[in-house]
Amino acid sequence: MGIGEAAITQLLKPTLLKLGGSAITIKQRPLTPDKDAITRLAKEIKESDISSLILVHGGGSFGHPLAKQYRLNEGYKDSSQIMGVSRTHQAMTILSRLVVDSLIDNKIPAIVVPPSSCIITKSGRIESFEKNPLIRMLELGFMPVLHGDTVFDWDVGFAILSGDQLVSSLAMKLNAERIIMGADVDGLYTADPKIDLSARRVPYLTPTKLKILRRRVRKSTVMDVTGGMLGKMEELIPAVERGIPVIIVNAAKPNNICRALKGEEVVGTLIERA
Ligand code: IPE
Repeated sequence: MGIGEAAITQLLKPTLLKLGGSAITIKQRPLTPDKDAITRLAKEIKESDISSLILVHGGGSFGHPLAKQYRLNEGYKDSSQIMGVSRTHQAMTILSRLVVDSLIDNKIPAIVVPPSSCIITKSGRIESFEKNPLIRMLELGFMPVLHGDTVFDWDVGFAILSGDQLVSSLAMKLNAERIIMGADVDGLYTADPKIDLSARRVPYLTPTKLKILRRRVRKSTVMDVTGGMLGKMEELIPAVERGIPVIIVNAAKPNNICRALKGEEVVGTLIERA
C-alpha cells in the first residue's frame, strides 16, 4: 500500500492561522526576525496538537520596507522595480524558512507553499489559485505554510498579496472551520491602542458592526503597504459572512496561540456572522 492509501484521512475542515509580521519580526528594524517569538510560536503550535492547520505569516520587517522602497503596491511602473520584486520575494522566502525550520525542529511536517507560484491576481485581487496541492498535503497530515508575497498580476504586472487576503480566500475555498489571527495587540480596538489611550477593545463583533468600526479605526502607525489592522478587517468580512468565525488574539503573549488553537477562551475579538 502506498503512502497515499495508507495515510489518507477524510479531510477535516482546516483551521487557518495567520501570524502577523509584527508577531514574528522586529517591525521597526528591516530584515530582523524575532527569533524567540518564532521558536515559542512553533512550540505552541506543536503543543496544541491540532490536526488540520494551514499557517500563513505576514511580512513585517522582511516584506513591507522593501515593498515600500520599490513602490510594489502601485504595480509595474518602471523597470527599476523588477529587482524589487525579486528582493521582496526573496526576503519573504528567508522569513518563511525561519518559520518552517522552527516547525520542523518541533517535528511538525511543515511545507512552504510560495503564493507567487500558485496564485495569479487581477488588480491585486486573487483570480486563480491552485488549491489541490494544499488539499492533498492536509489529507496526508502536512502543514502548509504560506506567506504574504509578491505575486504576478494580469492587469498591473505584479502586486503585493497580503497574508490577510490569502487567509480569507483560503478559508472560503477550503471551507475552513475558523480563522485565528495572531496580532501584536489584544484584538480590535475602537482606536489604535498604541497611540490612543482611550482605545477600548471590542470583544465581539458582527460584520455590520465591524463595518461601522472600520470607518473609525485609524491606520497603523508603522510602515505597512497592505493597510494595517484596517486592511485585515476589510479582508476578513467575506469569510465571516460565509459563516467562518474569526478570532483575533495577541500572539506576543505566551500561550495565547496554543489556547486559541485548542479552542480555549483567550482575550481577543471574536467576529461572527449574526
Ligand atoms: C505582506 O504581508 C507581504 C509583503 C509586503 C511582501 P502582510 O500584509 O500579511 O504582512 P503583515 O502581517 O502586515 O506584516
